[in-house]
Amino acid sequence: MEQLKKGRRLILFPLPFQGHINPMLELANILHSKGFSITIIQSNFNSLNPSSHPHFIFHSIDIGLSESGTSTKDPLLLLSRLNANSREPFQECLATLLSDVSKEPVGCLITDSVYDFAQSVAESLKLPRILLRTGSASSFAIYTAFPLLREKGYLPKQDSRLEEEVTELSPLKVKDIPIINSDGPERFFNLIADLEIQTKTSDGLILNTFEDLEEHALATIRQVYPIPVFSLGPFHKCYPANSSLTSSSLLAQDQSCISWLNTQAPKSVIYVSFGSIAAIKETQFLEIAWGLANSKQPFLWVVRPGLVHGSDWLEALPSGFLETLNVKGHIVKWAPQKEVLAHQAVGVFWTHNGWNSTLESICEGVPMICMPCSSDQMMNARYVSDVWKVGLQLQHGVERVNIENTIRRLMVEKEGEEIKNRVLRLMQKANFCLKQGGSSYRSLDALIKHILSFK
Ligand code: UDX
Repeated sequence: MEQLKKGRRLILFPLPFQGHINPMLELANILHSKGFSITIIQSNFNSLNPSSHPHFIFHSIDIGLSESGTSTKDPLLLLSRLNANSREPFQECLATLLSDVSKEPVGCLITDSVYDFAQSVAESLKLPRILLRTGSASSFAIYTAFPLLREKGYLPKQDSRLEEEVTELSPLKVKDIPIINSDGPERFFNLIADLEIQTKTSDGLILNTFEDLEEHALATIRQVYPIPVFSLGPFHKCYPANSSLTSSSLLAQDQSCISWLNTQAPKSVIYVSFGSIAAIKETQFLEIAWGLANSKQPFLWVVRPGLVHGSDWLEALPSGFLETLNVKGHIVKWAPQKEVLAHQAVGVFWTHNGWNSTLESICEGVPMICMPCSSDQMMNARYVSDVWKVGLQLQHGVERVNIENTIRRLMVEKEGEEIKNRVLRLMQKANFCLKQGGSSYRSLDALIKHILSFK
C-alpha cells in the first residue's frame, strides 16, 4: 500500500544501460512506495517506454547518440561521449523542471554515480544530489586501495602477473581488480580520481547491497567518504512488485521461459545468461552449446542478439543441434530473469556475474557457475566463489569438458550440496535485512529522513 504522500518530488537520472537502469528504476519504485513523487530524466539513447511505469513522470533529453551508431567496444570512450553530450540538455531539462511551480517541490536529485557533470549542475541549481552506485560495495571500496596497488606494482596490470594473488586483498587475484581497459590505464585512473571527488562532494551515496553481505567494504566506504552511506538492497525485494507494470527491460522478455520451466523437474534446470553487454567468440559459443548438451541437464539459455561476435543470433550452431536436444534445451533472446531465478525448476545459474545478476541469484538461493567477462564482474565472481562460497568458477577455459565437470560438481557432487546450503543461508540473510529492524530496512528509513531534511 502506498504510504502517506511526502509532498516532495525526486528527480532520478539513470545511466542508459540495462545493468544501471534496473537498479535505478527499482530505487524509484522503493521511494514511490514510501510516498515520494518520481520524475525520471532519461536520454533518447536506450530509453524506456514511459507507459511501462505510469506512476512516474518521464522527461526525455536528446543527447545525439543512437543505439545503432554506438559501439560498446570501448566503454570508456562511450562513457565520455555520454557525459559530454548529456550535460547541456540535462541542465536545461532540470532547470525547467525546477521552475515548474504547479508540481510538488523537488526534494533532491538522484543520479548514477558515473555522470561526471551532475554534481556541478546540481550545485549551480542549488539542488542536493545523492549518488547511486549500481555495482557492489566491494568493487567501489577497492578504488580506495588503488594508490597502494599502484605502489606495489599490481597496477597497471601486467599479463605475467594476472594469476598472482594480491596478498593485501586476499583472495583477490590481479586479474580480478576492476579495471576498464582502454587506450592505456591513465584514462581509467583519472576517471576513478574524479569519481572520488564527485562522491566526496555529494550529499549521500546509495548502494544496492546489504550489511551482512558486504560489511567490510561498507565500513571502508564509510571511513573514506564523509557523507551518509545507505545500503538498502537488495532493491528488487524492497517494494511490492508487479512485474507487468514495473519491468524496466529494454528488450522484450520472452514469457515462453516460464511455461517451459513449468514442465521441468524441481531444481533441475541450468539457467544461462551473460547479461546485457558481454560478448563471446563463436568458438566459445559452440563449446557452451556442446557443454550444455553433453551435461544431459535441461537448460534455459539466453542468447541475446549480439552476444556472439559476428552472428545475429544462433546461426553458428551446427544444423540439427536444436533437434538433437529434443525438449531438454530452451533458447530465448531475453528472459524475465527475476521470475526465472525464482522458479522452482531452476537449480543453477551460469552467469557473467554482473552485480544485478549476482544479487538476484543470491536472493533466490540459486548457486552460480561464474564466467566473468570484464570490469567489476571478475571481482563479483571471486566473492561468489572464494568469499561467500556460493558458486564455482568455470576454470581452465570455456571448453565443453570443463563445462560438464563444473555442472557435475555443482549439481551432483557433495561439494555442490554444501554450496547450495550456503547460498540458502545467504538468501535468508537477504530476506532478514529487509524486515522491520533489519539493516536495509533501517537504512531506507534513514534515507527518507535524510531526503526530508533538505530545505
Ligand atoms: C553491467 C555490467 O556487466 C555489470 O558488471 C555492472 O555491475 C552493471 O552493468 P549487465 O552486463 O547488464 O550490467 O549485467 P547485470 O548487472 O547482471 O544486469 C543485467 C540485468 O538484466 C539484470 O537485472 C537481469 O535481471 C536483467 N536481465 C538479464 C533480464 O531481465 N533478462 C535477461 O535475459 C538477462
